[in-house]
Amino acid sequence: MKIIVTKDYESMSDAAFAVLSAVVKAKPTAVLGLATGTTPLGLYARMAEDHRKNHTSYAGVRTVNLDEYVGLGPESDQSYVYFMRENLFKHIGIPQENTNIANGKAADLEAECTRYNALLAALQQDIQVLGIGSNGHIAFNEPGTPFGAETHVVRLAESTIRDNARLFAREEDVPRSALTMGLKNIMHARRVLILANGANKAKAVKGLVEGPVTEQLPASVLQLHPDCTLVVDEAAASLLAR
Ligand code: GLP
Repeated sequence: MKIIVTKDYESMSDAAFAVLSAVVKAKPTAVLGLATGTTPLGLYARMAEDHRKNHTSYAGVRTVNLDEYVGLGPESDQSYVYFMRENLFKHIGIPQENTNIANGKAADLEAECTRYNALLAALQQDIQVLGIGSNGHIAFNEPGTPFGAETHVVRLAESTIRDNARLFAREEDVPRSALTMGLKNIMHARRVLILANGANKAKAVKGLVEGPVTEQLPASVLQLHPDCTLVVDEAAASLLAR
């Protein structure tokens, strides 16, 4: 794993943008695997600014997102489809039909997982952007998820519900389940770019980099990926033996 330690959130976002924009410049039809959460917001702001100033084209880019809450759709400002539209897609001129997110409102969730898996098989990510949960989850693959899992419905861990409650009016409003790419779908990406900032991620980052490769800390599977870059700020890197 290649590790880039940056001073703070802003420089983490600069380094992430350098990696991602190089992929888009080299391949204007790239497939980008994208993540939600507060961590990639700085990266998305830089992509938007670059599109505005330098007219970098996303017309041929396709995207696949990691996950979505069950029961939430584009009309809900807590849904990930809404998050992606507001924080990235509408600012970079990407055709809506080129963007893909599992449908949290699908009547048949199992069928939706099958559909999304088939889509991912056809659209291998040139790069997959990831954040990390404080319990070491990636996407919504909670501790204990088999490494071989593909897109599936997941019941969220109590710690994830608590972590994400800050984004909802009340903790009771946080959906209890989600659709998520599995670890196998994430490992299928040609390249992985994982970002982490803040002291509350330090333990998870230590497990990601130095811990045993274990299903108890899902991100540790990335130690087995042939082309994974971690961009981490000093606070999140503070427990690493360096
Ligand atoms: C959520 C998302 C993950 C994200 C994680 C960290 O649960 N499903 O994809 O990486 O939380 O979020 P944040 O970046 O807000 O810390």
